[in-house]
Amino acid sequence: MMRRRETGTRRGFLKSAAAASAAVTTLALSPETEAAVAALAADDGPNDKVRIATVGMGIIGFEDTSCALKVPGVELVAAADLYAGRRQRVKEVYGDHVDVCVDYREVLDRKDVDAVLLCVPDHWHAAMSIAAMKAGKAVYCEKPMVQSVDEGPAVIAAQKETGAVFQVGSQYASSIVMDKLRDMIAAGAIGKVNVVEARYNRNSSLGAWQYTLPLDASPETVDWDRFLGKAPKRPFDATRFFRWRNYRDYGTAVAGDLFVHLLTGIHHAVGALGPEKVAAMGGLRYWDDGRDVYDVILSLLDYPKTDAHPAFTVALQCDFEDGGGDATAFRFVGDEGVISTDLSSLKLDRVGIQWPTPEQELKGYNSVKTFSQAQQDAIAAKLAIAAKLAREPNKPPARTAYDGPETFAPPPGYDPRFDHFVRFFTSVRKGEPVYEDAVFGFRAAAPALLCNQSLYESRMIGWDPKTMKVTG
Ligand SMILES: NC(=O)c1ccc[n+]([C@@H]2O[C@H](COP(=O)([O-])OP(=O)(O)OC[C@H]3O[C@@H](n4cnc5c(N)ncnc54)[C@H](O)[C@@H]3O)[C@@H](O)[C@H]2O)c1
Repeated sequence: MMRRRETGTRRGFLKSAAAASAAVTTLALSPETEAAVAALAADDGPNDKVRIATVGMGIIGFEDTSCALKVPGVELVAAADLYAGRRQRVKEVYGDHVDVCVDYREVLDRKDVDAVLLCVPDHWHAAMSIAAMKAGKAVYCEKPMVQSVDEGPAVIAAQKETGAVFQVGSQYASSIVMDKLRDMIAAGAIGKVNVVEARYNRNSSLGAWQYTLPLDASPETVDWDRFLGKAPKRPFDATRFFRWRNYRDYGTAVAGDLFVHLLTGIHHAVGALGPEKVAAMGGLRYWDDGRDVYDVILSLLDYPKTDAHPAFTVALQCDFEDGGGDATAFRFVGDEGVISTDLSSLKLDRVGIQWPTPEQELKGYNSVKTFSQAQQDAIAAKLAIAAKLAREPNKPPARTAYDGPETFAPPPGYDPRFDHFVRFFTSVRKGEPVYEDAVFGFRAAAPALLCNQSLYESRMIGWDPKTMKVTG
């Protein structure tokens, strides 16, 4: 079930949570998160911990685990990973008492694990999510929820059947910047939204997924066969294991990895279910290192009118060789204004549609001055009569009475990932509905994956955002 969140009326942000644990006092918290953290801290006791285990202790496995542990009442008891060096690192970072294993099913079998964080490559998301929910665990699964569109219904069904707390880990859904956008749009700040532009550009080798391989990578330190899972069998390849995003067998290319964040933010801000037409173009233009995915993609996604929003078109871009160093940015365009954000600041420009004065119509950049003098005189007379009758010849449409703030910034150091985990553990402890559940997660992932299909097949793809089915 989807939950809409209020951001509260206070515009200031508090630097510490009075009732929360010492671990969160250094975080910048929104008032809402501060209250949720205090409520979780109140439930925290030595016999009342939420015990977690993380599957996949790679880059985000460590990020997510450390972030989750800042939430009061959360304890790490186990972790699973296929590379020996990362299992070793778990003990170095979190302590020798944390159990480590290779096979994730050992984690699911443990009675002392309440919740699992699934931080594995994309081709494992659906299978592990379903297995974990069926094992009675609460699940925080990293984005994108599925590697392919046909995996979505089974994950949704598993959440429905088990009643599990299942949250997808795309933290833009919990960002206070996205909340602010949503509230401003709902209050009429930009009038009727007609276009959303968003980009997620990069300009570095690490940004383009050329992560460093460990020097001890070998079939002895890596469980290669287990990694492959449903992917085609092939001999051990350390580059494929440590840079799996570069290969379609394991990852979801740039769109699955990054458009899903942009779409999550857009769906949250506008209350959208998804597009009905998806088209994409791009190619491999710079990082030609053996990968079988592209590094530049531009997509157009057409959203139909719903009760929540008018029809609008989304233009998305990921460019991994943006030499200008351009990063993430959104522009929500409406007929009364535009909200721009790079997620560290937000700005509203409210100009609206311009209508000419009689002077501009007669003498400005317009057709009138090219007409015969007789025509110009006749039009001038018509405009004068209209002015006398106090009628505007080109009457602009009524505008919304938005008078809210024109800029907004989250506090320095603000991290939406923490808000996202606070929501997850609030659902785990208090049974509150999950916001970014399997349905929301699939509605964000599927259009991103359809961008891949469109690019690979050079055609537009049809999608029914309500029934969540490909239509052509
Ligand atoms: N929400 C975000 O901001 C964000 C950011 C980065 C990555 N992610 C997502 O997190 C996931 C992991 O990305 P990453 O960059 O950390 O990758 P990574 O390669 O750094 O780590 C993946 C880890 O999973 C382990 N693994 C693979 N298959 C496994 C299996 N069957 N059982 C147990 N462990 C297994 C590997 O050994 C590896 O250590 C991806 O789905 C990615 O899209 C999300």
